[in-house]
Amino acid sequence: MQKKRDAWKSRLGVIMAVAGSAVGLGNFLRFPVQAAQNGGGAFMIPYFISLLLLGIPLMWIEWTIGRFGGGFGHGTAPGIFHTMWEKNRFIKYFGVIGIFGPLVIFIYYNYIASWTLAYAVFSAVGKYGTITDQGSMISLLRGFQGIEKNQYFSSMHYAYLFFIITFAVNIWVIYKGISGGIERLCKIAMPMLFIFGIIIAVRVLTLGAPDPSRPSWNIINGLGFLWNPDFGALKNARVWLAAAGQIFFTLSVGIGVILTYSSYLKKTDDVALSGLTAASTNEFAEIIIGSSIVIPAAYVFFGPNQIGHIAASGAFNLGFVTMPLIFQKIALSAFFGCLWFLLLFLAGITSSISLAQPSIAFLEDEFNISKKKAVVIFGIVSFILCQPAIFLMKHGAVKELDFWGGTFCLVFFATIETILFGWIFGIEKAWGEIHRGADLKIPKIYKFIIKYVTPLFLLSILGFWFFQQGIPTILMKDVPQADKPYVLGVRLMLLAMVLTLAIMVRVAWRKRAQRRHTIKTNL
Ligand code: ALA
Repeated sequence: MQKKRDAWKSRLGVIMAVAGSAVGLGNFLRFPVQAAQNGGGAFMIPYFISLLLLGIPLMWIEWTIGRFGGGFGHGTAPGIFHTMWEKNRFIKYFGVIGIFGPLVIFIYYNYIASWTLAYAVFSAVGKYGTITDQGSMISLLRGFQGIEKNQYFSSMHYAYLFFIITFAVNIWVIYKGISGGIERLCKIAMPMLFIFGIIIAVRVLTLGAPDPSRPSWNIINGLGFLWNPDFGALKNARVWLAAAGQIFFTLSVGIGVILTYSSYLKKTDDVALSGLTAASTNEFAEIIIGSSIVIPAAYVFFGPNQIGHIAASGAFNLGFVTMPLIFQKIALSAFFGCLWFLLLFLAGITSSISLAQPSIAFLEDEFNISKKKAVVIFGIVSFILCQPAIFLMKHGAVKELDFWGGTFCLVFFATIETILFGWIFGIEKAWGEIHRGADLKIPKIYKFIIKYVTPLFLLSILGFWFFQQGIPTILMKDVPQADKPYVLGVRLMLLAMVLTLAIMVRVAWRKRAQRRHTIKTNL
């Protein structure tokens, strides 16, 4: 007997949960870094085009196929893909990416989210209260991460302690279930996050030009850095790749999490308007709040040339180095510092639980085991898998995990699901499925976009990206010689994860076939 699956309690709850998954560290940390590294205004045109042609269609696709698969008791890609293309014996194995990808992101994302909690505490107790220069703030971060021993930290004890706390919060929430844990947390955390974000954005937008000798370093020019369009950049493939990558990451599409969340919907629950609402909520957080904080603040205090350098000097420097330094320079610094890192923590935790849920759903749905058991198994396995991210970070482990889990798998998975949806499942059936119970009539042009434009766009990104970044990364071109054994070790771990998941899919399907056979012979 198949167990009764969990369900969302309210429509607002599921929208908050999907928006919670989408609004994350990507909106407040990754977005400014990507925008800064890719020339500010040059980045925003490909960004919006990618949102319309990739992000929003993929959001609808994932909400729809998740609800469809959920109707057959499947909450993860192997089962969902299989119900969409029953005749194909192999498609379920492609679905493995939809569990593997989120798990890989979870194992480093959770660790980064834990730094934000630590830094919220450091802000409140004044741990960096005397630091006024960039070099010392970087040392504090490196000491905390265990990359170096210095006067601020002589070991990684604090980093590990905050990791354990953050990890425990994740496990607790997913243990409480879809409505009792995830929905409840997101309904509280999301409004809080928006209030914190708006308070910080208003403070940043009302900053005067702090340096009278450089009056052009002001907030208007800071906003202009991001919003003055640069059409010349449309010719640059690198900017397109970065913008499309950001859209995937920020909306949580192509990961495999939205389909799991929507599998807990009822067959006739709306997906068209809900999907669009969740995407819009994320974009509000990213382009209204996210873009009003880090970039303009960094511009005002460090000027246009420095922003790119800071972003290039380390993925986390804008968030963990520049922002605390900026808060040091304004009144109520401890308050604003604490608010900034709490905002990041709430954004991080509502995303990391969504990254855990596909693994839980896979165990529950395909192996018919209790939630408690699934959470215990996931807790033990993912805790072990997190260790390389923590201890081998200085050897490039997080970067490596982010490449496979947070970049490659997203584009690959999105390509498969889009082709499956528009071509195998069939666009007519797909269009009908999106509109079942819909509170919004999607403009017809999207039928064409979903069938032709999105897959073509995805295939070209995959191709360009593979040659530009994929091949050098696969060949470890940018990895320092000393780090190569560690990166190789991480790759072997990832390979073992994929193989294990593929074997689990095989076992689950065999068991299901045996069960069916037994029922038939007993009749
Ligand atoms: N969508 C999540 C983020 O932006 C993963 O961080």
